[in-house]
Amino acid sequence: MSQQKGFHVAVVGATGAVGQQMIQTLVKENFPISKLTLLSSARSAGKVVEVNGQEITIQEAKPESFEGVQIALFSAGGNVSKELAPEAVKRGAIVVDNTSAFRMDADKPLVVPEVNEADLHQHNGIIANPNCSTIQMVVALEPIRQQFGLKKIIVSTYQAVSGAGASAVEELMQQTKSIIAGETVEPKILPVSSDKNHYQIAFNAIPQIDKFQDNGYTFEEMKMINETKKIMHLPELQVSATCVRLPVAVGHSESVYFEVEKEGVSAQEIKALLKDAPGVILQDDPENQVYPMPANCVGKNDVFVGRIRKDIDEDRGFHMWVVSDNLLKGAAWNSVQIAERLVELGLVK
Ligand SMILES: NC(=O)c1ccc[n+]([C@@H]2O[C@H](COP(=O)([O-])OP(=O)(O)OC[C@H]3O[C@@H](n4cnc5c(N)ncnc54)[C@H](OP(=O)(O)O)[C@@H]3O)[C@@H](O)[C@H]2O)c1
Repeated sequence: MSQQKGFHVAVVGATGAVGQQMIQTLVKENFPISKLTLLSSARSAGKVVEVNGQEITIQEAKPESFEGVQIALFSAGGNVSKELAPEAVKRGAIVVDNTSAFRMDADKPLVVPEVNEADLHQHNGIIANPNCSTIQMVVALEPIRQQFGLKKIIVSTYQAVSGAGASAVEELMQQTKSIIAGETVEPKILPVSSDKNHYQIAFNAIPQIDKFQDNGYTFEEMKMINETKKIMHLPELQVSATCVRLPVAVGHSESVYFEVEKEGVSAQEIKALLKDAPGVILQDDPENQVYPMPANCVGKNDVFVGRIRKDIDEDRGFHMWVVSDNLLKGAAWNSVQIAERLVELGLVK
């Protein structure tokens, strides 16, 4: 972190699962920072954290917290973003928002730099960071769309508990210990802390991420469907999703079925494309049992792809397995990457 020359950056939700990763990512990527303001709710205000050898006191997020802030990275829930992101913009900041508050607003770009960086130019002060499971899928699909066109996607996800915040990780750890010790568990957070029922996640799989909508899909599934179309600028793309929570701490996995427009494409051609694709690491060697797994992806910025194979019946259909660290490419790294691109494009005041 450069101290002399740089930008006044604020992290909102600095004590959260994503916020902590944002701070680490800013440091790791040597983002040019002249001042770092860390904000949370009143609960954590006053806590002192060390960032790159410097002690910073966390403050309660209020409209006036954004005086002088140039770049604000928000990850404190949708309500906080709705209330405070416009206040930050009013005071001259550019906001990169990790929540679902603005993602589908027509006047707010929803950006994954490997896919639609050009949309950054259309920003009106707020840029939305997509949902974690959407980001890793579109990074893997974009090179395929560019070369062969894309008609249809059916995705099933196997998502880590950290996607539901720091308290969900704690719940998984506690339940695991309790069950091994032969004690009963009292689920309080997963699948959705604000929903009616809570279920055991340790040694289980829960086919619900976020709340159910009237159409029988969960909000997480609808996020994947709608956000993919917006990011790829393909309103006609056929997308369907089933999202499942697993007892994995960090790293989302996805089984992605997709159909290309071009006929006669081989799995080998898809592999060759993804081998050189930006942000993608190809791990595909069935003979030697090489494929991506969440445990190997934790702490890495890339999207890992393997198990690429052609559908048995559909000439234009393919299957692949996509894994990434949901707190990094799915959240903190994508946000910092957007901030880096904004700086490089001269879009930060
Ligand atoms: N986890 C992921 O993989 C992921 C990925 C993409 C996007 N997101 C989104 O990012 C947001 C945060 O997720 P998370 O997983 O980091 O949650 P988390 O671990 O529960 O952290 C929530 C953070 O928000 C702060 N906060 C809560 N209420 C606040 C308020 N009224 N004013 C200011 N700060 C407040 C908390 O501060 P205190 O310490 O004071 O409570 C904490 O820093 C959510 O909207 C989530 O949907 C998460």
